[in-house]
Formats: sequence, structure tokens, C-alpha cells
Amino acid sequence: MEKLFSVPLKGGTITDVYTCSPDDVERTISSYPSSLSVFDDNTAKAYGKSIDSMSLILPHGEEHKNWASIDSILAKAIESGLARDSVFFGIGGGVILDMTAFAASIYMRGARCVLVPTTLLSAVDATLGGKTGIDYGGAKNTVGTFFPSESVLICTELLKTLPESEYRSGLGEVLKHALLSENAELWNFLLDNKDKVLSRDGNTVSEMIRLSLEVKISYITRDPEEKKGIRSALNLGHTFGHALESLYDYGISHGEGVAWGVVRALEAGEAMGITSHSLSSSASELFRLYGFDEGFRIPEDLFGRYFKAIGKDKKKKSGEVRFVLLEGQGRPVLKPIDEDLVRRIVTKRA
Ligand SMILES: NC(=O)c1ccc[n+]([C@@H]2O[C@H](COP(=O)([O-])OP(=O)(O)OC[C@H]3O[C@@H](n4cnc5c(N)ncnc54)[C@H](O)[C@@H]3O)[C@@H](O)[C@H]2O)c1
Repeated sequence: MEKLFSVPLKGGTITDVYTCSPDDVERTISSYPSSLSVFDDNTAKAYGKSIDSMSLILPHGEEHKNWASIDSILAKAIESGLARDSVFFGIGGGVILDMTAFAASIYMRGARCVLVPTTLLSAVDATLGGKTGIDYGGAKNTVGTFFPSESVLICTELLKTLPESEYRSGLGEVLKHALLSENAELWNFLLDNKDKVLSRDGNTVSEMIRLSLEVKISYITRDPEEKKGIRSALNLGHTFGHALESLYDYGISHGEGVAWGVVRALEAGEAMGITSHSLSSSASELFRLYGFDEGFRIPEDLFGRYFKAIGKDKKKKSGEVRFVLLEGQGRPVLKPIDEDLVRRIVTKRA
């Protein structure tokens, strides 16, 4: 196991991030006298190790990110005699990690938690920063806590079984991190290593995750509880993207939506005189290089529904939706965009 980072978070807590193999994960689990490992049915298979009585397998999918699953985790923890110093291992994508950490945060007023991401998206986005939770009342992540895990174990080997669409979804977030980075390292890495990234070469994926996490860390450590507006920058592309996902009933993956949304945010910034043309066009090129359909536009007659979906954005402040725009690479600003400009950007090809 190699330690990549020690990340200082809320209230002086620290999350240690390691790269490792599935055998290391197995050894780590057995090193604790009392633990519970939580999987979904796909990640239990991908993990490939024996699943013992100290494990719980939940059904996969966002529709199971709910109280019933939390109830199952807590019931299993009680039945297994877990104490406050026992460790909850979440082994899965963002859904399993968010729920395991949420259950750990409320079990006996806070047990211990270790996360093992098995999707690219969860490795670069859902492991650090302490956001836990479930979907409730028809909306995503409405109930939850801030509860940073004590460590994160990243095994690129586990990503090999990930369906292509899920891998691409994670890549959308990685490319977004490249734009949010204050330096060119991740961007250049992506330009130089496209084939190895797409064929999931282990060392390449590992380095890409490290560089991507470096960017996320620089934002969350400056705003651990999302109170200063710095962390909101990580939502670059999300307002445009979520509305697209919702318009097409989530037939578009989250990462595809984000990728499309990032390019729209840059175009909007350019039209508002905030973003340079060269940044906007080189970002479009990067997304195209990775096969994202960044030029897609929604039909004019769907704009009303699309704009309504934008209005539901949870980043609303005092009734106003604020978009993350870029004054330059790694220089985000939050601004409202008027309806006419949104219409121009999302419905007409430039
Ligand atoms: N806490 C945070 O900061 C944070 C950040 C971003 C996203 N999230 C949350 O993460 C969730 C999305 O995460 P996700 O995209 O990982 O979705 P997910 O957990 O639903 O995983 C996607 C699909 O891939 C399957 N899968 C996972 N790993 C696999 C593997 N190695 N092999 C084969 N199949 C595998 C899963 O069973 C699932 O069907 C959302 O609920 C979102 O709210 C949280």
C-alpha cells in the first residue's frame, strides 16, 4: 500500500488516501477485530473475494439510495455486535460509499469508516470531503451528514470490470478537474495519455486519479463544510448538466451531462466576456478528444422544460440560480445567467 495524501478536513479530522490491491483491502479488513463490509450486488462480484458473515450486499442503483438501505446496514451492524470503535467498510460506487458513510456517521453517534471506491467517479469525487447521505423526498442527497472517512483505499484493479458507460461517466469528472486545476499537469497528462487512459492501463489510471484528487483536495480543504463558496466551484458544469440529465430522464450518464455542461458554462462565460475564447475552445477540444458529444444541442421546443429543470438547481441562493463560470483555468466565479443566453447556448450550434 502506498500513501498518496493525508487530507485535513472538518474539525481537525484527517483522511488518508492509499493506492493498493484487492489483497491489501482484504488484509486491512481482517486487521480490525470488528467490522462490517457493505457492497452492492455488482461490487461484491467485482471485489471477487469471499463474502463472509460480516458483509452486507445491497441491491445496486441510485433508486436504492434510501432509508431502507440505511436500515439494512444499521440492522446488520446491531446484529453483528458492532461497537462505536468498529469499522464500516463501503466497497462500491458513490451510492454505496455515501450510504455506508452515512450509516457509520449515525451508528452509536459515529463509528469508524473506510471507503473503497470501485467506480472512477467515486474514486475522484465521492471519497473525499465527507459528504454522506441518501435521496429523500424525490430529490438527490437531501438527507445526510458531513462525516469524512478515516481512510480511502484506491484499487485501480477493481475498476477493470466497470461498464464502459460508468467509466466514461467518471472521465467527465476528471476532465472537469483538469479545468479547475490551477496548473496544467492533469490537462497535459490527459492530452498525452489518451489511449492508456481509455484502455484503463493500471499505472495510468492510478496517476490520473492522483492528479484529479489533488485538484479536489485543493478546493475542499479551503472550504471543508461548503460555507465559503470555494467548494461550489466543483459543481462546474453541473447546473447545465443536471438539467440535461433530468430532461432526458437520466438516460444520459452524470459524467456525460457534466462534460456537456462544462463546455456550455465556458461558452456562456465567453459570451459574457468572462472566459477567453482560447480557454473555451481548447476545453471543447479536450472533451472531443475523449469522445464526449460536447457539440450536442437540445431541440428548441424542449427549452421550456430544460429551463424549468435549471430552476430546480440546488445551488440556488435567494431564489437565483448561480452558475460556476471560469475567468481562466482554475479561476472559478459564480454568476447568474439570463434566460436568453441560456437558450442561445443550449439550443443553437455555435
Ligand atoms: N459524497 C460525495 O462527495 C459524492 C460526490 C459525487 C457523487 N456522489 C454520489 O455518487 C453516486 C454516483 O456514484 P457512481 O457513479 O459510482 O454510481 P453507483 O454507485 O450507482 O455505481 C454505478 C454502477 O456501477 C456498478 N459498479 C460499481 N463498481 C463496479 C465495478 N467495479 N464493476 C462493475 N460494476 C460496478 C454499480 O453496481 C452501479 O450499478 C450518486 O449517488 C452521487 O450522489 C457523492
